[in-house]
Amino acid sequence: MTGSNAFVWWQHGVIYQIYPRSFMDSNGDGVGDLQGIIDRLDYVASLGVDAIWLSPVFPSPMKDFGYDVADYTDIDPLFGDLATFDRLVAETHARGLKIVMDYVPNHSSDQHPWFIESRSSRDNPKADWYIWRDAKPGGGPPNNWLSFFGGGAWQWDETRGQYYLHSFLPEQPDLDWRNPDVERAMLDVIRFWMDRGVDGLRMDVIFCTLKHPDLPDNPPARGASIMRSMAEFDSQEHIYDFNWPGDLAKRVGDLRAVLDEYPDRAGIGETYLLDAKLLAPYYGENGRGLHLPFNFTLLHVPWDAGAFRQAIERYYAALPPGAWPNFVLGSHDEHRLATRYGPANARTAAMLLLTLWGTPTWYYGDELGMQDVPIPQEKEQDPHGLRVPGLGLGRDPERTPMQWDASPNAGFAPAGVETWLPVAEDYRAVNVAAQEGDPRSHLNTVRALLRLRRALPALHDAGVFAFVDGLPEDVLAYTRERDGDRLLVALNFGGADHTLDLAALGTRAEILLATGMDRAGAVDPGALAIRPHEGLLLRLA
Ligand code: NOJ
Repeated sequence: MTGSNAFVWWQHGVIYQIYPRSFMDSNGDGVGDLQGIIDRLDYVASLGVDAIWLSPVFPSPMKDFGYDVADYTDIDPLFGDLATFDRLVAETHARGLKIVMDYVPNHSSDQHPWFIESRSSRDNPKADWYIWRDAKPGGGPPNNWLSFFGGGAWQWDETRGQYYLHSFLPEQPDLDWRNPDVERAMLDVIRFWMDRGVDGLRMDVIFCTLKHPDLPDNPPARGASIMRSMAEFDSQEHIYDFNWPGDLAKRVGDLRAVLDEYPDRAGIGETYLLDAKLLAPYYGENGRGLHLPFNFTLLHVPWDAGAFRQAIERYYAALPPGAWPNFVLGSHDEHRLATRYGPANARTAAMLLLTLWGTPTWYYGDELGMQDVPIPQEKEQDPHGLRVPGLGLGRDPERTPMQWDASPNAGFAPAGVETWLPVAEDYRAVNVAAQEGDPRSHLNTVRALLRLRRALPALHDAGVFAFVDGLPEDVLAYTRERDGDRLLVALNFGGADHTLDLAALGTRAEILLATGMDRAGAVDPGALAIRPHEGLLLRLA
C-alpha cells in the first residue's frame, strides 16, 4: 500500500480531543470554556497534534453534559458565544490546526424547541419529528427496547397520550430521521458549522440513527454484546434498535454529500460497535460515506500482546478497499488509559497508538499520564453512573480538570473556586508545568513520539505494515515501511526483561525513541534488549 506524499490532515494527522468543561476555565465559574481553550491553544500546538475535537458546546440543560442539545446552531453561555467560537476557529487555524465539532444527530434535548412543539399535541407541524408510538394494546411501552443509560427506552407523555423513544436519557428524545424534514434540518446544521469554518464533525452515536422501521422487539442476547454496556442493556441482541443496515448506506452517503459541498472536510462517526466487521459499511458505498468510523475495538481488549495483535489484525482485515483506519484508546466515555493498562504501561500504549497505521485520537491529559480520579459519591455528576449505580459505569473519573501547574486547582480555575469535578490529588506532581522542564517526562515522551510521527511518512502515511513473528509472548512488534524507510516498533507488555533476536529484519538498527527517553543510537538487532514495560521505535538498515 502506498499513498501520496501530500499531508491529508484527517489521515496523516493526530486528533486531540478536548472535553471543554474540563480543559481551562477562563472566567472562574469552575467549568472550562471556549476562551480557556483559546488561551491554551499554544500548548495544544506545541504537542504536535493536527486537529482539535471539542465535545459539545451547544446550548444544553446539561443532563448529559452537552449531549442533550437544545439548539444545534448556537453556543451555551457557559462556554461563551458564537463570536468567541469564531475567534477560536480563527486562532486554531492560525496555528495550522483543524477544528472538529461534535454533532449529535440521534437525539436532542427535551428542551429543544422542536421537541417542545412535538410533544404539545398529536397534530402540530413537528408532531412527527420524534419517534412517538401508542401504548401496546392493553398498555405498556410499544416494544422491549432498553435505554443505554438504564431502564426502558420509552417515556410516557401525558399530553399526547403516547410514548416517545429515548435511546439514552428520557431528556434525550430520539429524532425521527425517516422524516425528510428532520433530515433536511439536521443536514442544514452541518452546513451551519461548515460555513463557520469547522473542518470536521464527530457524529455522536451515528449508528443509533439506524433503527428498524417497524420497531420490532429485540431478541435476547446470544453472544458478546457489540456495545458492551456492562449492564442490563447487554441482555438483548441489539439488532433492531441500532445499526439496522436498511438505511446505512443512504445515511452515511447523505452526510458525506453535505461535507463534500466544502473542501477538505472530514466526517468522523462515533461507531461504538466492538466488532470490526460492523464498521466497514460506515465507509459508505465506494468510499462515499464517513471518512473515519471510529474504531473502539481495542478498548475492551485486555492488556496482552497476543490479544492486541489479534484485534489489530482483525480490524485491518475488515477494512474495505481504500478505507483509512483509525484507533481510539481514550475518550470522555472510557476509563483513563493509564488506569486501564496501569501507569507502567501508559507510555507503551501511547507508542502503540501513535505508531500504528491509521489516524489516532488522543484524549486530553493522557499526555501527562493522567489517571482516573476517584469521585466521592456526593460529587458524582454523570447520569450513566447515577442511573446504573454500583457497576463503576460513571464517567466522571476520566473527565476531571486538566492539570496545568502546581497552583491551587491545578491552574485550571482560580484558587478558591469549586471546580465542577474535583481536581486529581496528585496534580502537584502530575501537571504540564512540572513535566515541561523534565526531558524524560511523560509529556515530553509523547511530544517526541508526535514529532517523529509527523516527520516520518513511514509512520503517518500508508506503507507496508507487518507484525513480527516468533517473539516472547509479552512482546508485540511490527514493522512500518515506506519509500525504503524501515521502522520497527517493539512493545513489551509485561514486566520482564527480554532479548529479541531480530537479525532476520536487518543487520543494523538505531533506536529513534525509547519510552524511558534514556536510550538512543545503534543497537544490535540480533540481540535487542527490551526492558519491562518498554516501548522502542527503531530504524532498520
Ligand atoms: C456518546 C457520547 O460520547 C456520550 O458521552 C453520550 O453520553 C452519548 N453518546 C449520548 O449522546
